[in-house]
Amino acid sequence: MVPGDKSIAHRAIILGALADGLTEISGCPRSEDCQRTLGAIQTLGVEVEGWEGECLRIYGKGLRGFREAADVLDCGNSGTTMRLLAGVLAGQPFLSVLTGDASLRRRPMDRIIIPLRQMGAEIRGRAQDTLPPLAVRGGGLRGVTYRSPVPSAQVKSAVLLAGLFADGPTTVIEPVTSRDHTERMLEACGQRVERGERKVTVMPSGSLQPNKISVPGDFSSAAFFVVAGLILPDSDLTLEGVGVNPTRTGLLEVLQAMGGAIQVLPMDESVGEPRARLQIRSSRLRGVSIGGDLVPRLIDEIPVLAVAAACAEGKTVIRDAAELRVKESDRIRTIAVELSRMGVRTEELPDGLIIHGGHGLRGAGCGSYGDHRVAMALTVAGLRADGETTVLDTGCIRTSFPGFVETLQQFVPDSVEQEE
Ligand code: S3P
Repeated sequence: MVPGDKSIAHRAIILGALADGLTEISGCPRSEDCQRTLGAIQTLGVEVEGWEGECLRIYGKGLRGFREAADVLDCGNSGTTMRLLAGVLAGQPFLSVLTGDASLRRRPMDRIIIPLRQMGAEIRGRAQDTLPPLAVRGGGLRGVTYRSPVPSAQVKSAVLLAGLFADGPTTVIEPVTSRDHTERMLEACGQRVERGERKVTVMPSGSLQPNKISVPGDFSSAAFFVVAGLILPDSDLTLEGVGVNPTRTGLLEVLQAMGGAIQVLPMDESVGEPRARLQIRSSRLRGVSIGGDLVPRLIDEIPVLAVAAACAEGKTVIRDAAELRVKESDRIRTIAVELSRMGVRTEELPDGLIIHGGHGLRGAGCGSYGDHRVAMALTVAGLRADGETTVLDTGCIRTSFPGFVETLQQFVPDSVEQEE
């Protein structure tokens, strides 16, 4: 029902390209973001087959088999593509130029430029080396211990991937543990990874083993249906095969604490990533306060959590989420502005939001700011609002969830229409 996990798919494509031989990936989402990663590794000389079918085949070139791209690598809207590839390209002894769309070109890249330079890569960006486009000339890396000031899996992954090419161990220490898909997949490729509390070390790699990878359903895409199931009357919804890596599922804990009837039934595992069946029933929700270490475990779900909060009795307070300001849009601002258009009282904080829930939502004309998760969250809010809601500029949904509206139509027929 939901597409394959975007974060895991990016990593499967990148590590597949770096492995020695054939990696087969089933359940790879056809989202634009993953197409960007795939397009980039093809431009770097890696052969790929089967994107149209069920199973994607990547003929890995080994760690040192990429060739210099004849053109700029366009990462589109995808921060994961740009930051993870920059890590890999920091290890390649040639020039790469990475760019993206207007939203990505506004997102901070000093967070990866600083550690990759410490490792010895030549790397430059626009606006005093803070913004894309980026120019990377890699090679000759040394292992470092990097203490990241931001809780970011993209930063951690960029440094760990560069660490595969370094002359000694590379360690990343995080302020709060972020999603750990890179670590799990490196281990599945036979790579030695040492993991401690908020600390990960990779050893320089001789080679990576190819894999057969079955990508679990994307928890971040499932989240829109989990919240819709809770806030709409008379729902009883089952979502099969959803990835439930604990570094991603903070939303479930919060919704359960809000009174949400959600059951998680474990299924199986692929490349160290657990999968489950989620059962959701309509529930009366109450407001909560969240912050601290939980936040990176639900960072992408905050737009839809805000919708659940608007439908809950009482006040919800979200803190320690300043990272939301540098996502595909400034999500603190965009959620506060758009939910207030729907009659919800919201207060913007420097690092979060206060939502005064339980007073109903009214249909409104809303904008997506070109941000896929804002567009989908507002669509779910519109299902619960009185009257009609129009969300403009929803083409961005294709970056993570092509087919979102069609899937929603199966769940609530006659409630959603889509215009091209
Ligand atoms: C991602 C990490 C997170 C998340 C993004 C995907 C990843 O970003 O918001 O959607 O796949 O590593 P940050 O690393 O910037 O927190």
